[in-house]
Amino acid sequence: MSEADATPLISARDISKSFAGVEVLRGVDLDLMKGEIHALLGENGAGKSTFAKILAGVHLPTRGTLALNGQPVEVTNPVVAQKLGITLIHQEPISFPDLSVAENLVLGRSEDGWFSKVPWAEMTREAHRYMDLLGVHIDVTRPMRGLSIADQQMVEIARALASDSRLIIMDEPTAPLTPREVETLFGIARRLRDEGRTIIFISHRLEEVRALCDRVTIFRDGDKIATDTIGNLSDADIIRLMIGRPLKEYMHKHSATIGDVALEVQGLTLPGVFYDIGFSVRHGEIVGLGGLVGAGRTDVARAIFGVAPAESGTVKVNGKAAEIEKPEDAIALGLAFVPEDRAVAGIFRTLPVEQNITAAIPGKIAPAGIIRRAVEKSLAQDAVKKLRIRLASVKQPIGELSGGNQQKAILARWLLADPSILILDEPTRGIDIGVKAEFYDMIGELAAQGRAILLISSEMPELLALCDRILVMAEGRLTAELSRAEANQEKIMSAAVPRSQRVEEAA
Ligand SMILES: Nc1ncnc2c1ncn2[C@@H]1O[C@H](COP(=O)(O)OP(=O)(O)OP(=O)(O)O)[C@@H](O)[C@H]1O
Ligand SMILES: [Mg+2]
Repeated sequence: MSEADATPLISARDISKSFAGVEVLRGVDLDLMKGEIHALLGENGAGKSTFAKILAGVHLPTRGTLALNGQPVEVTNPVVAQKLGITLIHQEPISFPDLSVAENLVLGRSEDGWFSKVPWAEMTREAHRYMDLLGVHIDVTRPMRGLSIADQQMVEIARALASDSRLIIMDEPTAPLTPREVETLFGIARRLRDEGRTIIFISHRLEEVRALCDRVTIFRDGDKIATDTIGNLSDADIIRLMIGRPLKEYMHKHSATIGDVALEVQGLTLPGVFYDIGFSVRHGEIVGLGGLVGAGRTDVARAIFGVAPAESGTVKVNGKAAEIEKPEDAIALGLAFVPEDRAVAGIFRTLPVEQNITAAIPGKIAPAGIIRRAVEKSLAQDAVKKLRIRLASVKQPIGELSGGNQQKAILARWLLADPSILILDEPTRGIDIGVKAEFYDMIGELAAQGRAILLISSEMPELLALCDRILVMAEGRLTAELSRAEANQEKIMSAAVPRSQRVEEAA
């Protein structure tokens, strides 16, 4: 290693940030080296995204300095960051959906901020070159709209390469990806590191951090608690540093009396999406729906709830045939559905947290059409306490909360709604390890009160810990039904792997 390489790419000193007088980052010192993949870990609201946004010029620090290769820099906005070679890949990629992939790639790169001067043929050729470098096959002439999240991320990474970024920040990039896509992403991240680039990787999944990262920095309540080589820390060390208290044991199951069938689905089919889905969920029962991302589980849930109804098949609620053509029909029958894409579904970003939390219970908040603010506030405050939602005030616009805390608030909304049948789609995605326990408790409690729960999850430990029965889907079909007693990781996994890949492995 030459001497120059020992100079950190970025030196952050005493970085602090306040929003409306509330300090959310305090005196953070951090050196990021060339050619390292550096993880940021911490509970929801610890300050990871805020720190990332300061590096990327989205936020200005209220105090502190940054140096790039030893030279002081002021990253006053994202364009400056881009010129300095710093790219932030947001969880929901920001793109221009109607422009082509190639156009999206060169946007923001030309000096005048527009791309009209870039000749088309050259642009397409270049875009192809970056895709080849990444080893991904995306038609660069097609529009962005309709690309999978994984491919959209690849375009963002290609854009980082095109602008020759030295620091690439990935904020929870893996949440919506299949295991294969995660592997592709990791392969690319390693290659970029080996070229001497620096990568910041933010994730709540410790096993991913172990597989990918060289060093980790742990944040807690806006303080940097530790930076170390990943190999020096056990999982228990990391969790202790992250949450500063012992982790609550959640692997015990509430006992609930299993009652009559609440939800019954037969022969549900939407050609090209899912076929002949049949199962039932009883009152008091938690039924898991496992499988890989893309197996069709969300589509089934959306069909049951009337978001995108099936073409054939029947749904019965409490033994009666149900005609569910739109979500209102489902809600009227006592169903609730917490969708996986909580960032787009049902968040009212500019409204206060308390209104977001109580949005599904107008009957309690405004029984005579007049809003009872005190009830609204106290229900919201209870939920905030129970789910440890980190915020300054329940009057804050929900858009100001950290990603994970927004999710908790939306979950709280549906838990308060008192449904008799609750469908949860990946409820703990993006939620930190410290609060999962409380959340599992709440689900258990809801079942014990006699509610029927369908839990869609890609996290096998979660299914195994909570469910009375586990169904598995692959490629739009049910491939297994396992009782709590017989279920284990291998059985779920082998039923979740698509047939095409199984053949491949057997050959
Ligand atoms: N624009 C803003 N206005 C007010 N407060 C904000 C704003 N952005 C972030 N915060 C607050 O700063 C704190 C840190 O948020 P941040 O998004 O950095 O957390 P995080 O570690 O990324 O959490 P998560 O794991 O949930 O994504 C939170 O309490 C959040 O509410
Ligand atoms: Mg975040």
